[in-house]
Amino acid sequence: MVDKVVFEPIGVIHTPFKAPENMPVQPARGKDIEGWVEVDPRYEEALADLAGFSHIYLIFHFHRSKGYSLKVVPHLDTEKRGLFATRAPRRPNPIGISVVRLKKIEGNKLHICDLDMLDGTPLLDIKPCVREFDAANGLRIGWLDGKASPARTHPSDDRFAD
Ligand SMILES: C[S@@+](CC[C@H](N)C(=O)[O-])C[C@H]1O[C@@H](n2cnc3c(N)ncnc32)[C@H](O)[C@@H]1O
Repeated sequence: MVDKVVFEPIGVIHTPFKAPENMPVQPARGKDIEGWVEVDPRYEEALADLAGFSHIYLIFHFHRSKGYSLKVVPHLDTEKRGLFATRAPRRPNPIGISVVRLKKIEGNKLHICDLDMLDGTPLLDIKPCVREFDAANGLRIGWLDGKASPARTHPSDDRFAD
């Protein structure tokens, strides 16, 4: 097993959110919230053919996250849960993943919406969202059953703030 992995951001995600509290906790709850991704011009050529995809995965660094606990009370719950059974931003490797809607691409700029990340979030990777690839047949959602509906719109609070 390698003992260290070093990534360099490929861009920056720009959103309306300046603080981790009082913002959407997942893209389904940040529906229609608009922002943009500034991809490092070195990688602009790699954006070819991406415009045909309606949704993309953004894989990013929770850059404002400090430390972690192995059990956390996640945003959509009142009980402690094992960290890896949650999407909490404080993690041993603070990596986030969000499926966002891709509206258009202009040069190295991706116009996106349905956002749940802070302004200035470093972007690690982009991948097209392909339902056929991610087919999770018979999906069970554990403790989130009955809690995950986007209709429950309550935003983040300060439990994972600085
Ligand atoms: C629960 S996480 C979910 C993110 C992603 N969809 C995932 O599942 O990995 C979203 C919350 O993390 C916090 N957050 C977002 N961007 C962050 C960043 N760059 N650094 C630290 N915390 C962040 C905010 O409180 C936001 O509501």
